[in-house]
Amino acid sequence: MTTAEVKEYYRQTRNSQIRPELTFALSILEDRGTAIDCGCGAGSNIKHLLAEGFTVYAFDIDKEAISLCAERYKDNPNVVLSRATFGEFDYPNASLVVADASLFFCAESEFNLFLKKMRHSLIPHGVFCGAFLGARDTMAQADFNNETYWGNVLVQSENEIREALSGFDILQFTELETDGKTPGGEDHHWHIFSVVARVEN
Ligand SMILES: C[S@@+](CC[C@H](N)C(=O)[O-])C[C@H]1O[C@@H](n2cnc3c(N)ncnc32)[C@H](O)[C@@H]1O
Repeated sequence: MTTAEVKEYYRQTRNSQIRPELTFALSILEDRGTAIDCGCGAGSNIKHLLAEGFTVYAFDIDKEAISLCAERYKDNPNVVLSRATFGEFDYPNASLVVADASLFFCAESEFNLFLKKMRHSLIPHGVFCGAFLGARDTMAQADFNNETYWGNVLVQSENEIREALSGFDILQFTELETDGKTPGGEDHHWHIFSVVARVEN
């Protein structure tokens, strides 16, 4: 079931600004063919990627997110939507894979399958742009009610992330740690690793 907090999240993030990591990823890509948006939510990154000239394959586990995007992009033949998890999705060949604030909720049992499929989908010089959840984030604490958003979180350390992306050339690795508010107005301590990485072949 999509909680009230998730609905509010979609409402608030529908037209989010492009994140700096994605801007950087776009700046190093020559090919604007196909992009994959993993865990697309309300579809703000789909909008940015379309504006850059990509055909966008986007997936999300949540029926509500896919319905919102289906309505939003119903007249656009360059958007292909699927309701799927990180492990289930059938990844097409792509020059860019984006996982913006979504791998936080990937089932641990699916993470290696995701990595394998994502790596396989990237064409030579293709770029992965994604974020990972650090141990000091509010959502990673034992007393956090994980029913609020999308269930259990996947917490990873810098070493684990670097090891997971060992076949990639890591071009940007940023650790963000800051206090702020969720889109719904709750206090939140963010602890996020953002990565832009490229495959050479
Ligand atoms: C924090 S939101 C981020 C949405 C969007 N990427 C953005 O930056 O606005 C997390 C998204 O990941 C999706 N998600 C959660 N678990 C997932 C899974 N196992 N497989 C695919 N998508 C998932 C959620 O439904 C939600 O849309």
